[in-house]
Amino acid sequence: MISFNQVSKRYPGGFEALKNVSFELAKGEMAYLSGHSGAGKSTLLRLIAAIERPNTGAVLVNNQNVSALKSGALPYLRRNIGMIFQDHKLLFDRSVFDNVQLPLQICGSDHKETGKRVRAALDKVGLLGREKSNPIALSGGEQQRLCIARAIVNRPSILLADEPTGNLDAEYAQEIMNIFNSFHQVGVTLLISTHDTGMLQSNRVRVITLKHGEIQTAPPVTQEGSGQAASSKPSVLSAAEGSGL
Ligand SMILES: Nc1ncnc2c1ncn2[C@@H]1O[C@H](COP(=O)(O)OP(=O)(O)OP(=O)(O)O)[C@@H](O)[C@H]1O
Ligand SMILES: [Mg+2]
Repeated sequence: MISFNQVSKRYPGGFEALKNVSFELAKGEMAYLSGHSGAGKSTLLRLIAAIERPNTGAVLVNNQNVSALKSGALPYLRRNIGMIFQDHKLLFDRSVFDNVQLPLQICGSDHKETGKRVRAALDKVGLLGREKSNPIALSGGEQQRLCIARAIVNRPSILLADEPTGNLDAEYAQEIMNIFNSFHQVGVTLLISTHDTGMLQSNRVRVITLKHGEIQTAPPVTQEGSGQAASSKPSVLSAAEGSGL
């Protein structure tokens, strides 16, 4: 479903944010994307949504090379991808309802269908009663859930979440994770960036780790065995492969 083949990304100015990144995420799989600040997590997610383009290599989504898409084809790709941005990108001069309906407006959905879909998305994240509020009146965690509602309103088959639990306490972060787990259970493909070590350890989910723009391979296992299983997949560090929850 998502495949990176020897992808490198250099930003204007010369900084190489991703170096020869290769990995695959199967249809319906859920994985965490971890790594230090500046490791390239947001860059990787932006490449999948074709917000950024790689300098070399190919990014495939459903066997389509998104790095080669013409701008006219991008709305079709993005209809299939829900993105939760690290910096939220909420519009504070519009209501909760209007924020969620934005992706539908771009796609030209009719009035009745829009109302139905927006309320279904708000219901899914527990914000149904808040549709007339301004996002400024929501707590940090509620704003995060609003971002999730906006990302899923198009019923995408792929959900990309960039640090969705940053700044939330452990309990609230787990609530957000429960929402993602429910999407995973209905077959949505999820890639969630985080450097929340508690979350990485407590959920049995595959972890793809970036370090200075490169995929981290699993550490070598000593002859005696260190208690850690060796990863059979090169270039991907897996905590618990394809757990299926
Ligand atoms: N638009 C840009 N122009 C130039 N350099 C950039 C740009 N965006 C990101 N970078 C650089 O690329 C590197 C990777 O950035 P990125 O935002 O992908 O990291 P990250 O892993 O998401 O970090 P964080 O955990 O802090 O969000 C960083 O060194 C950053 O400064
Ligand atoms: Mg980031």
